[in-house]
Amino acid sequence: MVTGANSGIGKAAATQFAQMGATTILVARDQRKGAIAQEEIKTASGNESVELLLADLSSLDTVRKLVSDYKEKHDKLHLLVNNAAVVEGSRVVTKDGLEEVFVVNYLSQFLLTNLLLDTLKSSAPSRVVNVTSSVHAHIDFNDLQMEKGYNAIKSYGQSKLAQILFTNELAQRLNDSGVTVNCVHPGAVRTHLGDEGGIVGIGIKLLRPFYQSPEKGAETLVYVATSPEVDGVTGKYFYKRKEKAAPFNKDDQQRLWDVSMKLSGLKG
Ligand SMILES: NC(=O)c1ccc[n+]([C@@H]2O[C@H](COP(=O)([O-])OP(=O)(O)OC[C@H]3O[C@@H](n4cnc5c(N)ncnc54)[C@H](OP(=O)(O)O)[C@@H]3O)[C@@H](O)[C@H]2O)c1
Repeated sequence: MVTGANSGIGKAAATQFAQMGATTILVARDQRKGAIAQEEIKTASGNESVELLLADLSSLDTVRKLVSDYKEKHDKLHLLVNNAAVVEGSRVVTKDGLEEVFVVNYLSQFLLTNLLLDTLKSSAPSRVVNVTSSVHAHIDFNDLQMEKGYNAIKSYGQSKLAQILFTNELAQRLNDSGVTVNCVHPGAVRTHLGDEGGIVGIGIKLLRPFYQSPEKGAETLVYVATSPEVDGVTGKYFYKRKEKAAPFNKDDQQRLWDVSMKLSGLKG
C-alpha cells in the first residue's frame, strides 16, 4: 500500500512494486487523478492487480474508513509506504480542528500504521517505510498545531521530524515482531510538492529543473521497501540507499507518541 500514489515519488515507487508483481494498493484523495494513475501503472507494469482506495488523509475518520475498506478485501499486508505529504503556504485547519500539514504528513500516518499493525504483524515479514525529508526541523510541543506562529517551512519541517521520531519509536515497540520500520529521504525530486506552498512553493518551482526525476527519487524508497539487504533492519534513516545519522531522541519520540495517541483517538 502506497499513500500519495497518484503522483511524484509515490507513483514512481508504486509502478516499480507493480512491475515486481506485487498486488499494489494506491491511496489517493482524488478519484480522477487516482484512476488515471491506476490505469497508467497497470499499462506500465502489465500487472492488473493495481487497486485504488480513496482517502483524504487530512481527515482522521477517513483514515479509519480507508483501513476498514482495505480490511474488507485483504487479510495480508506486506508493505506500507507512508508517502503522501503537502506543503501549505498558510495555516489550514482540518475538520478535526488540527493543522493540516501535521495531519497529512504525520498524524494520519501514525493512525493508519497503528490501525494496520495487526495485519502487518500477521503478514510478517513485513515492512513500513516512511518517506521523510532532510528538511526536518524542530518540534514545538507547546504549539504543535502552530497557532502562535505559522510558516510553511516550519510546519513541513516539524511534520518530517515527527515521522523520523515515529519511525524509531515504532521500530522499538515492534521489536521481534517481524515488522520493520524505516524512513527515507528521497533527495530533491521534480514533483508537485510545493504547488500549494505560497512563497516557499515558488522557490521550489524555480529549482525544479535542477531536481532528479521521480523514478530516480524513488530508488532509495524501493530499495528499503524490497531489498533482501535490508531484511531485519529497523528504526533507521536512509538516504541514497545508505543508513545515515538521524535526529532520534528518546524523550521526544515517547512524548510525541503519547500526544499522537490522544490526538488520533487511539487507546493505549
Ligand atoms: N519532491 C522532493 O524534492 C522531496 C524531498 C524530500 C522529501 N519528499 C517527500 O516525498 C514524498 C512524496 O512527495 P512528492 O515529492 O512525490 O510530492 P507530490 O508529487 O506532491 O506527491 C504528494 C502526494 O501526496 C498526496 N496528498 C497530499 N495531500 C493529501 C491528502 N490530504 N490526502 C491524501 N493524499 C494527499 C498528493 O495527492 P494530490 O495529487 O491529490 O495532491 C500526492 O499524491 C513526501 O512525503 C515528501 O515530503 C519530497
